[in-house]
Amino acid sequence: MKVSVIGSGYVGLVTGMGFVKLGNEVIFVDVDEKKINMISNSQPPIYEEGLAELMEEFKGKYYATRDYREAILNSDVTFIAVGTPSREDGSIDLTYVKQASREIGKILKEKDSYHVVVVKSTVLPGTTEGVVKPILEEESGKKAFQDFGLAMNPEFLREGVALEDFLNPDRIVIGVIDKQTRKVLEELYALISAPKLFTDIKTAEMIKYASNAFLATKISFANEIGNVCKKLGIDSWKVFEGVGLDHRISPHFFRTGIGWGGSCFPKDTRALIRKAEDLGEDPIILKAVVEVNERQPLKLIELLKKHIPELRGRTVGVLGLAFKPNTDDVRETRAYVVVKKLLAEGARVIAYDPQAMENFKRAYPDVGERIEYADSATDVLKATDIVLIVTEWSEFEELDYSGKIVIDGRRVRKAEETARVYEGVCW
Ligand code: UDX
Repeated sequence: MKVSVIGSGYVGLVTGMGFVKLGNEVIFVDVDEKKINMISNSQPPIYEEGLAELMEEFKGKYYATRDYREAILNSDVTFIAVGTPSREDGSIDLTYVKQASREIGKILKEKDSYHVVVVKSTVLPGTTEGVVKPILEEESGKKAFQDFGLAMNPEFLREGVALEDFLNPDRIVIGVIDKQTRKVLEELYALISAPKLFTDIKTAEMIKYASNAFLATKISFANEIGNVCKKLGIDSWKVFEGVGLDHRISPHFFRTGIGWGGSCFPKDTRALIRKAEDLGEDPIILKAVVEVNERQPLKLIELLKKHIPELRGRTVGVLGLAFKPNTDDVRETRAYVVVKKLLAEGARVIAYDPQAMENFKRAYPDVGERIEYADSATDVLKATDIVLIVTEWSEFEELDYSGKIVIDGRRVRKAEETARVYEGVCW
């Protein structure tokens, strides 16, 4: 099938290349000239495991352009995979979704065959039918579900294993009303053997939010119990191993630590809270989930101060700046909260991350430009005896922590075994 993908960020690029791997031809659309050139020259503009190899292997089966017309006229189905960032008040910013819809709508006017538009971007329930559909209809002068198809197909990709998640998902959720569109999507995903759940459009939109909110809740819940375990001298990882053996609960996604970050959980929980409040609901669980997560990184500093009450003038090493390992992504990273607090306490900070130092400095200049960066984790350990572990990169497992005060936000085994003073956040 011929597929076009609007927006070549993480989701667009991984999804598009996933469809290429499944035997389709893909045209990516983006506004960023640099990205377009990179993709068309088979170079991934982001780091994601397996992506570079895939782009190399399937050269000629995809390219990128800024021209919507070319992309839509030469494809049967178009995925909207643009960003839906948070506004100041937590609500979601639909500027890019609206822009993409307008551009697609204008071209749909000229298209004779039945074209299918699929919203992949995370949007609140009601958006595809309440915002995207009217724009497409107005710009094209055509009717959705009759002259062109429209569906919502959320993504559940984890950064770092996104391609694997695309090809071997736990499930595929497709919000679709008309038969013709359903047929196109069934065909597109035919080679993937996973349960396929067909719902109406707003249900599919909600499944994405409810999934992320539940996972965030699971971690915040574990962290809250973990904080109590810490005070009682109980290992919370063992506790959740035991709890997770109940098949109704599942052992996955139960690691206590300094909390969740990234591009999805913080943004999506905030947007859902905002939406619930707009509807006159008071989502007290979700608000507590977010609050626990905001406090959690500060536990690291609390534990550090048990051993070094006065941080002023002390040098503190920070290992890890990315929001999780195997990515250079620093969006909503817990490292920001930790570093900010250390600086406020008057500490000198020396940090190291294998991939994310540049991004950290650029994304958080208020703290990023006030700290030092080391060339390696070993250099951090040479510079100071006080170490905070913020991201569980595997290379941090190999270090010799002996003689150090280590406060570990992610439970790195070697640190636990060798440090002079070892404190894990919640265990
Ligand atoms: C997440 C969802 O998993 C994915 O389905 C959705 O589409 C996008 O958001 P991602 O942001 O890539 O994916 O990261 P994920 O691996 O899920 O981790 C999110 C955060 O939770 C990280 O900061 C991680 O450190 C933290 N986490 C995860 C925990 O603290 N404990 C856990 O047990 C699992």
